[in-house]
Amino acid sequence: MAGSGPSGARRVDDPPEVRDALPTHPEPVVRLNRAVNLADVREAARRRLPRPVFDTIDGGADDELTLTRNETAFRDLLVTPRPLVDVTTRSMRTEVLGQPVALPVLLAPTGGARVAHRHAELAVAAAAASRHTVYVQGTVTSWSLEDVAAAGGGSSWYQLYLPADRSRTAAMVDRVVAAGYRALVLTVDTAVFGGRERDRRNGTALPVRIRPRLALQGAGRPAWAVDFVRGAVQLPGPLSGSRGLSVRATQEQILASPSPVTWADLASVRALWPGPLVVKGVLGPEQVQRLLDEGVDGVVVSNHGGRQLDGVPATIEALPAVVDAVAGRAEVFLDGGVRRGTDVLKALALGARAVMIGRPYLFGLAAGGQAGVEKVLDVLGTELDRAMALSGCATVADVDAGLVRRVGR
Ligand SMILES: Cc1cc2nc3c(=O)[nH]c(=O)nc-3n(C[C@H](O)[C@H](O)[C@H](O)COP(=O)(O)O)c2cc1C
Repeated sequence: MAGSGPSGARRVDDPPEVRDALPTHPEPVVRLNRAVNLADVREAARRRLPRPVFDTIDGGADDELTLTRNETAFRDLLVTPRPLVDVTTRSMRTEVLGQPVALPVLLAPTGGARVAHRHAELAVAAAAASRHTVYVQGTVTSWSLEDVAAAGGGSSWYQLYLPADRSRTAAMVDRVVAAGYRALVLTVDTAVFGGRERDRRNGTALPVRIRPRLALQGAGRPAWAVDFVRGAVQLPGPLSGSRGLSVRATQEQILASPSPVTWADLASVRALWPGPLVVKGVLGPEQVQRLLDEGVDGVVVSNHGGRQLDGVPATIEALPAVVDAVAGRAEVFLDGGVRRGTDVLKALALGARAVMIGRPYLFGLAAGGQAGVEKVLDVLGTELDRAMALSGCATVADVDAGLVRRVGR
């Protein structure tokens, strides 16, 4: 499934029986190639996806206040460059939980990537590996966690949603260990699902199934529809290869009833998982001391991309207080609303070790599969490199709090 491309990077492709089974439809590579920024990539995806599918990725909770704020809050931060520094030689390299990465942009866990492209998590993991960064594979997946681990070449992390039946947690964690994931990310902001009103209006729920309305809208999006059907032909093999624990059953349980994560759960996961443990979904300093006491190695300042509780702060607003409370005793990551290299620069300046992106790479995936995800990483990398050069930073270590200040709205 994932082979070696001409450059040595892994490339995800269909097995021959799937490749030959259906006519190939040209993918909108031209549009993707012309994309100069992430807004263009989003637009390429919007043109390819049926409206309900686009909305299920693009949308947020309730009035989408937090979704909007995640992006606008970055604009309220201004950068003060430091000229007269020799930035001829630059590097975006850094380490996340001891793992070297080529740039401080990681790919956040997103359930349901399969609605964007049939290669879904395999393509995302392979793209992250080819760009020497990290993909956080989610529990909600269309490919087995072993196949995704292989596509990521041993560089991926795993995001855990706990099964409602906690007696199955240990088997799940064992499987993640055996597959070779480097870090475990426990998401704690989904006690119940957020109110996704676009999805309710569209009658969409994850996992997306072909229903009459979707089939109708899919007819206007033939490239997507063919891809979706090809995926359906292709899927049964890898998904059913559930090696001792049913991925599908676990997911259906999770999707049917998300299960609140408690401090007791955190302690038991910590005891089960031997590697670095990250908690995703922290927005304030109050829980930080206890998280550190429980042995957490990293936190992700995240509001789930504005998809859970609406009205919470933008993550870039919440970041400084969390960084202060952590005080260097763990690594702090941020996701939500990162759309520009300058956003990455601002997050690093305020103390994030690295950022994660969600929607942007899903749009890249929708517009061009693995190449689309790579394009998104390349665009952000190019922008960050330029922003570092123009602000007088040769390395990420040079990016510090003195670079940014907040302006009033
Ligand atoms: C379609 C979609 C599915 C997601 N699924 C998950 C998930 O299964 N687990 C999780 O921890 N976060 C999930 N997230 C949240 C992302 O990990 C991340 O926090 C968010 O997308 C970051 O915001 P951004 O999309 O503005 O970059 C999902 C986000 C989207 C857009």
